[in-house]
Amino acid sequence: MRIGVFDSGLGGLAIARAIMDRLPQYDYLYLGDTKRVPYGVRSQSTIHEFVGQALRFLFRSECQIVILACNTASAESLRKSQQEYLPHHYPKRRVLGVIIPTVEEAVSGLQSPRIGVLATASTVESDAYGREARRQCGAAAVVQRAAPLLVPMIENDGIRYIEPVLDEYLAAFQGLELDRLVLGCTHYCLLKEMVRARSGLPVVSQDEVIPEKLADYLVRHPEMEDMLGKNRERRYLVTDVTPTFEGFAERLAGAPVRLQKVELE
Ligand code: DGL
Repeated sequence: MRIGVFDSGLGGLAIARAIMDRLPQYDYLYLGDTKRVPYGVRSQSTIHEFVGQALRFLFRSECQIVILACNTASAESLRKSQQEYLPHHYPKRRVLGVIIPTVEEAVSGLQSPRIGVLATASTVESDAYGREARRQCGAAAVVQRAAPLLVPMIENDGIRYIEPVLDEYLAAFQGLELDRLVLGCTHYCLLKEMVRARSGLPVVSQDEVIPEKLADYLVRHPEMEDMLGKNRERRYLVTDVTPTFEGFAERLAGAPVRLQKVELE
């Protein structure tokens, strides 16, 4: 059985790569819905429908655990998938999101955490980060800002033009005396050093958080760990392939990646 990593597109490869570096022994299946990215501008019902299709595909492809690396998918569909889909179809499998572990990291060691969150419009509108932070720490204050231009710029090889746009978004956090700034979108891992330098804030970047949290989960759940194949298999599936996607995937994964096209239904 495999570990599935799902993202709306290719940004999740940055997180998948960090997971594979930390836990190289397992078999992995990455699925990116490149045909329908971005999810961050869509409605909750559409995102839930797309995530449902992805989960069906990944479970049929022998994934024991699926990580919704996509924050937008985690915010809009994780709980519903865990409560409504899994118990009826795959009660012994698991879907894990990225928001709970990211918030754990963001509030850790703080009494009254003041947290900034940069994310897609739909993640911000869902208030998933705000709710989770207050659930973990009643005194948490969360300031969220949607950054809709960042994903398209990153996907289109536009990081070299991004500084003024990023500064505009980061201005919302200035003077708020935040303890930490969460990068609440897969793609933003690529900007973490730029954000650190330009905001001057301690940044929580998911490629630095999720692998450790998954390693910890597998230690706490040996019944899941036992099910996982340990042949170092890696497969990268997408719903659309172009030379641009291939180039971007290689830059994110840091190694040659063969993208294989599949249909979700
Ligand atoms: N992967 C999405 C996320 O983490 C960003 C891209 C999108 O909008 O689909 O929120």
